[in-house]
Amino acid sequence: MMIGGMAATDIAERFGTPVYVTDEQALRDNFRRIHQAFNRHMETRVHYACKANSNMAILKVLEQEGACIDAVSLGEVLTCLKVGYSPDRILYTGVNVSNEEFEGLVEAKVPINIDSFSGLRRLAAISTDVPISFRVTPGVGSGHHQKVITGAKGSKFGIPIEEIMDAFREAVDLGFKPRGLHAHIGSGGQSVDPFTDLVGILLGVVNDLKDELGLELEFLDMGGGIGIPYRPNEPVMDVDELAANLTEMIMEESDIKTLAVEPGRYVVCDSTVLLTRCVDIKRTEEKNFIGVDAGFNTLIRPSFYDSYHHVAIANKFNKACEARYDVVGPICESGDYLARDRVLPEPEEGDLVAVYDAGAYGFVMSSQYNSRPRCREVLVNDGEAELIRDSEDLEDIWRHQVMPQRLM
Ligand SMILES: Cc1ncc(COP(=O)(O)O)c(C=O)c1O
Repeated sequence: MMIGGMAATDIAERFGTPVYVTDEQALRDNFRRIHQAFNRHMETRVHYACKANSNMAILKVLEQEGACIDAVSLGEVLTCLKVGYSPDRILYTGVNVSNEEFEGLVEAKVPINIDSFSGLRRLAAISTDVPISFRVTPGVGSGHHQKVITGAKGSKFGIPIEEIMDAFREAVDLGFKPRGLHAHIGSGGQSVDPFTDLVGILLGVVNDLKDELGLELEFLDMGGGIGIPYRPNEPVMDVDELAANLTEMIMEESDIKTLAVEPGRYVVCDSTVLLTRCVDIKRTEEKNFIGVDAGFNTLIRPSFYDSYHHVAIANKFNKACEARYDVVGPICESGDYLARDRVLPEPEEGDLVAVYDAGAYGFVMSSQYNSRPRCREVLVNDGEAELIRDSEDLEDIWRHQVMPQRLM
């Protein structure tokens, strides 16, 4: 198994396991593909949703590609500024935003996407001299799991569509100059239709704003959520068709000149593999287990969302698959697994298991559960591998804990 021109086994040997390995060229290719798909039709800002993977080296690669950023916390904003993004390339879209966070955003001069009337009023009390847009709850939802559908009615995100005109009206009365309209239907959907429905709804609002308030918006932001095929035979969403359909609707039905899209998963997911070592093999009457050194502390998606990640034994690509195995980790919970019922070659202790499509919502959702330090991340480019995050050690786990003197 080769990653970016290097053998997976060599990478694992050099950096240890578990380790997230990102192929820089794949990352650049993904960004360029989606950027071109939209920009060939109309000016489109591709705001990479950095919650998917906020490693600073990855942010820097995308900065070099001309990405903008979708940030959901002040921490993400300040990280992106540190990496070299200018404030105008960042759009902050938070939910349940505290006054302290608003103050930090105003100081950072970053455009803010407002999510509630409360947020609008609290921000106005801090400053109206900040570019704003609104996140609407469009009533259209889509996603790979109930937990990541955000645009449906009843969602905690955004201002309900029925109230969005009032929100813009109040913003203008408060002294803001609202510039855009945003929605995000959810994450990881595989169908084009919800995006078409969404844009239809957003265009209705854009035109109502013009007719009723005389407000001409600068941009429309259709959020992220473009799914990727996690299973070997799953169809790939046709991003060219998506871009052609949506941009045509926007150009025909409105005066909007700039579109924004916020892909996270699409940009980073398949650029990264998690390499984990087989440490234990267990055969029982009911099941066979390949025990590896990564658990849901390292990659939580299978346990948390029942997500499928394709797995292979990296040092046995040429061996026939013979039996079914669950690939399970070292966490003391029976819900700790990376893959279930997979047909794989006969495993041995020391084999290297590759978990595919681990670049989105992988490392960023990892934890120190069971007092296990977080693992390394490596970037591979043109046959060279570089460390982009060192592993933690026990000192990192102990660092912020305080033992009261009276217990000593
Ligand atoms: C507002 C917003 N934009 C973009 C995204 C990125 O979604 P995805 O990684 O599915 O493209 C998310 C994900 O939760 C989001 O909440």
